[in-house]
Amino acid sequence: MPDTNALELWTAVDQYITDTVVAEDRILRAATEAGIAAGLPQISVTPSQGKLLYLLARVQGAKNILEIGTLVGYSTIWLARAVGPNGRVITLEAEPAHAAVARDNLARAQVEKIVDVRVGKALDTLAGVEPAGPFDFIFIDADKESNPDYFQWALRLSRPGSLIIIDNVVRDGAVIDAASSDPRVLGVRRLNALIAAEQRVSATTIQTVGSKGYDGFTIARVNDG
Ligand code: SAH
Ligand code: DHB
Ligand code: MG
Repeated sequence: MPDTNALELWTAVDQYITDTVVAEDRILRAATEAGIAAGLPQISVTPSQGKLLYLLARVQGAKNILEIGTLVGYSTIWLARAVGPNGRVITLEAEPAHAAVARDNLARAQVEKIVDVRVGKALDTLAGVEPAGPFDFIFIDADKESNPDYFQWALRLSRPGSLIIIDNVVRDGAVIDAASSDPRVLGVRRLNALIAAEQRVSATTIQTVGSKGYDGFTIARVNDG
C-alpha cells in the first residue's frame, strides 16, 4: 500500500497535470460535482486518465465506441468528444440512479444525441448491443469479477485494429497475489490468463499512480486478420 505522503504527492502532481496539460473544462468538473452531490462513489477515471482515453480514441480514429460501466458519465464525455458529432458511444450501466446522473451530465456536455446509455447488467444487455458493432474502441470499467466475460464479449464485438482498454487492473499491486480470494483480483488475473492465451490480441498493461492511488490500465489491440 502506498504511504500517505506518496498518495499526497501523486495527488498534487495529478492536480498540476490536470491544471496544465490536460485542461479539464468546467463541464467535466460539473459532471464530477453532480456525482458528489448525488452521493455516488467517486471512482471515475481521473482527468489525466480521461484525457488518455480521449487521445487513444482520437489516434484510433474511433467513431463507434462501447463502454461498460458509466457511473456519472465522466469517461463517457471524454469518449463522446473523441468520436465527434458524427460518432456514437454506447455505454452500459447497471444502476438506474447512476444512469440518471449520467444522462444529466451528458446533456450538459451536449453529447446526449451521440451517447446511448443502456440500463441493466451488462451481461444482460451486451447481446442487444451486437447489431451496433463492430466497435473501434471498447472501454471495460464495471464490476471487475466479470472482466473475463467482458473481454470475451469485447473480442466478439470488435474488428481487426479495434482497441480494448480495461481499467483497474493493478489494484495497489494486489494483482500479483496468486492466493487472493478477492473476486475483483481474481477477475483481473483470469482476464490476464485469457490475454496470455489469446492469439487475436496484442496487449500491455501500464501501471499508474495519481489521485486515485496505484492502479493500471490494460490496452489490447485486436490483430489484423
Ligand atoms: N467508467 C466510469 C466509471 C465506472 S464505475 C468513469 O470512469 O467515469 C463502475 C460502474 O459500473 C458503476 O456505475 C457501477 O454501477 C457499474 N456496474 C457495476 N456492475 C455492473 C454490471 N454488471 N453491468 C453494468 N454496469 C455495472
Ligand atoms: C473501483 C472501480 C473503478 O472502476 C475504479 O476506477 C476504481 C475503484 C472499485 O470498485 O473500487
Ligand atoms: Mg475504473
